[in-house]
Amino acid sequence: MKDPLLITGGLGFLGSWTVEEAVRRGYRVVVVDAFTYAADPENLSSLKTRFLVPRQRNVWGVIRVVHGLNAYPLVSPVGTPDYEVVEDVPGEVERFLESDLDVLVIISSVEDYELMKSLMGYVGGVIHLAAETHVDRSIEDAWDFIRAEVIGFHSTVDAFRRVKGKTGKFLLVSTDEVLGEVMEGYASEDHPLKPRNPYAAAKAAQEHFAQSYINTYGTPITIVRPTNAYGPRQHVEKFVPKIIKNALENLPIPIYGDGRQRRVWIYAEDVATAVLDVYERGDVYEIYHVATDDELENRELVKTILGMMGKPHSLMNFVKDRPGHDRRYALKWDKIKSLGWRPKTPLEDGLLKTIEYYRAKYGSRPFVRR
Ligand SMILES: NC(=O)c1ccc[n+]([C@@H]2O[C@H](COP(=O)([O-])OP(=O)(O)OC[C@H]3O[C@@H](n4cnc5c(N)ncnc54)[C@H](O)[C@@H]3O)[C@@H](O)[C@H]2O)c1
Repeated sequence: MKDPLLITGGLGFLGSWTVEEAVRRGYRVVVVDAFTYAADPENLSSLKTRFLVPRQRNVWGVIRVVHGLNAYPLVSPVGTPDYEVVEDVPGEVERFLESDLDVLVIISSVEDYELMKSLMGYVGGVIHLAAETHVDRSIEDAWDFIRAEVIGFHSTVDAFRRVKGKTGKFLLVSTDEVLGEVMEGYASEDHPLKPRNPYAAAKAAQEHFAQSYINTYGTPITIVRPTNAYGPRQHVEKFVPKIIKNALENLPIPIYGDGRQRRVWIYAEDVATAVLDVYERGDVYEIYHVATDDELENRELVKTILGMMGKPHSLMNFVKDRPGHDRRYALKWDKIKSLGWRPKTPLEDGLLKTIEYYRAKYGSRPFVRR
């Protein structure tokens, strides 16, 4: 019997793929997710899931509104029939672990330190994905990124340290963006951190805290740095879903600058298998890069998707570049191969699945945000 797993941010894009992969491997999963605009309960619809909101701690929405920290609406889950408001979260976790459910979703920010401490005794380890993730939003205003990435990460890792000490495993999902742009060759795991936008800086702050906890307390942390992921369930503000959505609606597709920024693309399910492989077989205190060999210029990616959808290149619309836009990310990913992991989804297959997902979701109807 595997020890239960706590996965933060499990209602988001990569989080939900990770939860599914964990359940497939026989884990009972507790999710903590703040239910921001990027979360969607539908992402876990293939699993037997219960959603609950801790009554006394449902302060997240209130804080966001009162302090005006958030420009976008938080959909309140309270009062809708699918969500239960509960008093005794540990009691509910115990009941969940005796039930035949796959996942227990607790709607809360990971900033709730008391909540995070109360959960750590029930799980063997943590996979931390909760974050604000859209670079453009971080350029507009970085406060939410500092709260989610820095305060939220500290709350989670410190709760883990205080309850579990040096036992169990803590996996931090970081990003290739912490290394800054890599113009030549490929960056290995010991490349210096040189973040160049506020999102990347917030993620790099997580890594600095993680290394300080490894050094100071011996906390058993492992870090993974995935490259750019795509696939079903990603919020439509991101590049690949935006290309597909605009193409479905025959709208211009905005491409920053000259469109010659280079990115390496990986299908979401392959990120999830990498995360679980590293969680299960990776060495603690190590960093693992997660990537593929599918490196493309952004404008090539747009052309590829338009070609697959039978849409004209005239939809490509070059717009003013975003400030500080990194030209290239490129990871050396030999180390994770030693764990036996390989990406399984060729770019074209992954893109086809992604196009089909958004076509089924939005079809040719005008897009309406949830
Ligand atoms: N998508 C990518 O290409 C990519 C690449 C490398 C690394 N990553 C990392 O993977 C992780 C997941 O990325 P994603 O693309 O799935 O993001 P996403 O934006 O789709 O999902 C993030 C999830 O975290 C939740 N969340 C945000 N703040 C929270 C908080 N304070 N407390 C609890 N939950 C909170 C949101 O509600 C959402 O469900 C992030 O840490 C990101 O930095 C993503």
